Amino acid sequence: MYFSPALVLAALPFLVAAAPFEERSRNGISIPIAKRSGFRNANGAVDIAKLQAGRQLTVAKIWRGFEAFEKNTGAAHPSAPRLKRSTKRGNGNRLIDDSEQLWYGSITVGTPAVTYTVDFDTGSSDLFLPGSNCDSTCSGHTLYDPSSSSTSSDAGQKFELKYGDGSTVSGEQYTDTVTLAGFNATRQRLGVATTYSSGFQSDQFPADGLLGMGYESLSSYGASPVFQSLVSQGQVSTPVFSFYFAESGSELYIGGTNQALYTGPFTYMPVTTRGYWEGLFDSISVNGKTVFGRERAIIDTGTTQVIGDARSVQAIYDQIPGSKDAGDGTWTILRNFNTPISITFRGKAFEISPSTFNLGIASGSSDCVGGFGALDGLEFWIVGDVFLQNVYTAFDLGYDRVGFASLA
Ligand SMILES: *[C@@H]1O[C@H](CO)[C@@H](O)[C@H](O)[C@H]1NC(C)=O
Repeated sequence: MYFSPALVLAALPFLVAAAPFEERSRNGISIPIAKRSGFRNANGAVDIAKLQAGRQLTVAKIWRGFEAFEKNTGAAHPSAPRLKRSTKRGNGNRLIDDSEQLWYGSITVGTPAVTYTVDFDTGSSDLFLPGSNCDSTCSGHTLYDPSSSSTSSDAGQKFELKYGDGSTVSGEQYTDTVTLAGFNATRQRLGVATTYSSGFQSDQFPADGLLGMGYESLSSYGASPVFQSLVSQGQVSTPVFSFYFAESGSELYIGGTNQALYTGPFTYMPVTTRGYWEGLFDSISVNGKTVFGRERAIIDTGTTQVIGDARSVQAIYDQIPGSKDAGDGTWTILRNFNTPISITFRGKAFEISPSTFNLGIASGSSDCVGGFGALDGLEFWIVGDVFLQNVYTAFDLGYDRVGFASLA
């Protein structure tokens, strides 16, 4: 069984006759989002061990999606064999809590509506919140109480999401009304946690929960993700959501694109498998020199860096004067780093500005940390915030593609 395509095909009759989505974006709504950087110390310096732990968590998340994909569709995910077992789990480093750089904003759930903050994560597909019967691991968060929502219904199924550090988020599945940017998804499946893994505890994680924005095939619940529900329930007429990440004014736009925030046409990366927002880039270039060509990439708003295989990432840093391998998949760069790096999608090169590539001073060092990191044996790329801050990104469920445009 293969869930998402049915949804997409059902929507197609409307789409074929319609104008390109850029011209039909007037009905969308934007909501503000904020960033947290879990990999920084209190003084703002980059903790390399935390950054490394974040990469492990990303891989654990991607692996979980591959497993859900196989369970939901009956077929192995085509990229799964490319995630070698060596990268499947942590490498025995000390346990470090969830330390990714994530983007979060508000949703409401239930009747009467209660506001929660959630991380918007294109690298997973489920929604979960901490429940009112959660143990102390959820303290400090706004808790969802099914008994105080008249639209809440127990789905009669448990859930368990494993994280890389061996801990889990687990609880019971419910359905309720979920409102995102004013659009209502009724009978939306959500996980209500009775236990939070350490990474989601409120001292580590300012958002209450997480809202996955990948395809339904990755859902551990085997259920429609929130955005897909908004589309199938006719709340959102343009099946597109878009992200703008900046130092201030960042937003998630639901139901199209916000034309005030980009210029020129979109360049589209077709989605190769409806699971992750996954496709191919043409090349990565450093200083105008192509370091290597076509590779698979997953576009993930829940990941800080651009992550690749150690040998490929080393080849990039080889072209950056003064860069050093800091171990465990992290490289340092000079403070005055100014090397142009770009990723080309479908013939168009998108530059990563030196200021977004440079993550800042490394803790205990006079050098800075580079925006590309590595996981040994990773045979595809995970393209996160370091790249996405440089573009306006539209996730187009109607045409199965990710559009990148230059920032306005
Ligand atoms: C969502 O539900 C609320 C409460 O029922 C209602 O006031 C609002 O108009 C709905 N929004 C849309 C877009 O249907």
